[in-house]
Amino acid sequence: MREEGMTPGPPEHGPSPTIWPLGFAVGIAVALVGLIVDPMVIASIGAVIAIVFGFLWARDATSEMRRAAPTVTAEVREATPAEAAAMPEAKPAPEKMQRSRFLEGATLGLGGIIGGLVTLPVAGFALLPSFLGQKGHKVDMGPVDAYPIGKWFISTFTVDPSEGEVSRRTAFVRNNGAVGNNVPSFTIISNRCAHLGCPVQANGPTGAILGEKNVTEHTVNGAILLRPVVPAGFGCPCHGGQYDTEGNRTAGPPVRALDRYSFEIDNGHLVLLSTFSVSHVVGVGAQAKIYKYKLSGPGQHVDGPEQWFYPLEPPHH
Ligand code: FES
Repeated sequence: MREEGMTPGPPEHGPSPTIWPLGFAVGIAVALVGLIVDPMVIASIGAVIAIVFGFLWARDATSEMRRAAPTVTAEVREATPAEAAAMPEAKPAPEKMQRSRFLEGATLGLGGIIGGLVTLPVAGFALLPSFLGQKGHKVDMGPVDAYPIGKWFISTFTVDPSEGEVSRRTAFVRNNGAVGNNVPSFTIISNRCAHLGCPVQANGPTGAILGEKNVTEHTVNGAILLRPVVPAGFGCPCHGGQYDTEGNRTAGPPVRALDRYSFEIDNGHLVLLSTFSVSHVVGVGAQAKIYKYKLSGPGQHVDGPEQWFYPLEPPHH
């Protein structure tokens, strides 16, 4: 409490609040999100925001240091002759920066540099590998003749033989025959469950029970095993998800239909291309209308309002 009669002192020193740190944090957040969504555009926008607000923040924090010292007129009174005789001649004081302000600016600057040095490499090493070097693969599944029209096969194959068994996949393949202007039609359904990704099984008798032999085709992708099957649908052993023969969900927790492979015919061979997600399929075989979406992870909705809960995901094939 100030005592009666005391002269008010200067206002207490303290940093004034600004929005620059908030803008800087938003810029960093946008840059990190941009690394996932769009490294070229969104990440660049985030970096620009962070740089602009970081610059404004640093400029604000160091403004006191750069501001010209205010001119203050000293309070004077006439000295008595005795005081004048006793006083030494005044010398001009050297200009110097206030220590507290220097320390404040140095702390902020060093903190920012150290924070950047620590955060950016960690974020880069943690996030970037998921988004870089992702490439699509073609899988030669053998001659079209190996797939009689109307028959289903459980086919297993390696997507990238150089990666070995870790890239082994299974798909359910049916040749629907040619449609329109002699365009071949195949239904090629991924066995990755649309709930949590467990391997879906064909609900029906396979090779030995049917009295049909498994077939192995040797292609540039290694051995392609084709097991004949007559499925009534597909079922997941993990949580009981069920699908019909077009991959539509019919029961259980899956949130959409099974993913599918796009394909091409190259030199008489069936070649698998990328996978895509499907919300649902109307119709059957070559006449089916497939509601197609970019490939999404298991459990992710691809349509309806729920899709907005899954805005970010790394690219995958
Ligand atoms: S993973 Fe298939 S139903 Fe859960």
